[in-house]
Amino acid sequence: MTTHPEFLLADLDTFEAGPPWQVFADLRANDPVRWDAEEAPNHGFWSITRYHDIVKVLRDSETFSSEAGTANLEELDQEQMDARRSMLETDGPRHRSLRRLMQDNFTPKAVLGYETFLRGLTATTLDAALAHESFDFVKEVSADFPIRVLARMLGVPDGDTAQLINWGNRMVGNTDPEHTDVLPTSEESEKYRLLPFKSPAALEVFDYGFKLKAEREGKNGMDLVSKLVNTLPSDGVPLSDVDFRSYFLLLVVAGNETTRHAISHSMNALIDNPETMVLLQQKPELIPWAVEEFLRFGSPVYHFRRTATKDVEMHGKSIKKGDKVVVWFASGNRDSDVFADPDRFDVTRNPNEHMTFGRGGPHMCLGNALARMEITIMFETLLPRIKKIERVGEVDRLRSNFVNGIKRFPVKVTLV
Ligand code: HEM
Repeated sequence: MTTHPEFLLADLDTFEAGPPWQVFADLRANDPVRWDAEEAPNHGFWSITRYHDIVKVLRDSETFSSEAGTANLEELDQEQMDARRSMLETDGPRHRSLRRLMQDNFTPKAVLGYETFLRGLTATTLDAALAHESFDFVKEVSADFPIRVLARMLGVPDGDTAQLINWGNRMVGNTDPEHTDVLPTSEESEKYRLLPFKSPAALEVFDYGFKLKAEREGKNGMDLVSKLVNTLPSDGVPLSDVDFRSYFLLLVVAGNETTRHAISHSMNALIDNPETMVLLQQKPELIPWAVEEFLRFGSPVYHFRRTATKDVEMHGKSIKKGDKVVVWFASGNRDSDVFADPDRFDVTRNPNEHMTFGRGGPHMCLGNALARMEITIMFETLLPRIKKIERVGEVDRLRSNFVNGIKRFPVKVTLV
């Protein structure tokens, strides 16, 4: 891809060295509704970078629809949209009934039911990692942990989690040549055009999901798959096979990479701010608050996309019906109109109404309470065990403008 400035946020090179905070700051100040060109066959998109504008877009789902397009930059024809639609690409009453199917399982109260399991899992993960002085923090600590929790919720055997991790990497990391089987820009990817992320890994996830469905249909299991196959959505329309497989795939991918990267970014921020680490070691009761700053500062999801359903003006720009409108959560999280000194990592920041999980729209992250609990327990368990932690190599980043991901970062730890 070219590095022509027209392609600024479409160009993965812009994200090569990490989040382009300065680019976001310049856009917020000078061009808050910017047209980003894209290479054909894509048509370009509007980039919304200010916090309050992002909130406006998220809350006005009639004008800025999820259903009229996809959640990311890919442009699909009707056949592809119909084959790939999940609740993330659904609006209105159908979206609400799909979301309601799982909503009760993800409330702060419901996820507390996994607390004991999570504390045990975190301790085991850390025991294994901290048995070595030097290790890759992503591989040994962040990578497997979130998916093991989801595996438990979905009721899949522990032995299958490595497979789930592999599928997630291949799909969500599909713009990174190291992770993907088929780059979505390649000719070969056309064979997979009806699959999410144009990834053959999605077929494996579907097969796996349908096997679980067959096992659990008509039984009274308590896991998420049983609930999905045995509950009629509140609008009375049963889940089609496409609804089921898309829902299952969404549950597998949505909370896996995102939480992993959130944990990695949090650790990195603490390494860069050792005085904050000491503060949290001395006052562990601050950790749940600190997690909000971890999430704001790390911003593991760069953007989501909506599609305009009518012509609309924003900051003097004419957004046309059918245009892609991209909300850059990562940029909103550094908006000085909302966050004082936004580039400062301040775990005592209060209030801290970040938009890492969206902010207030109908698609606000379903798993946010679970993610918050996972990150809190991870740092409540890890921090008392370490005296010193340092990076001993490069932070290796995912090649993506969608997920702000870290593939590897080597650390050396001194235990207390
Ligand atoms: C730190 C970790 C996470 C981050 C940063 C994150 C971020 C997001 C974002 C930005 C959205 C879209 C919000 C919007 O468009 O308004 C979203 C939606 C969603 N997330 Fe998360 N997420 C995380 C963890 C999880 C977990 C653990 C789950 C559990 C399965 C999960 C499940 C979902 C689902 C199902 C949706 C779609 C909701 C809908 O369409 O109504 N996420 N997430």
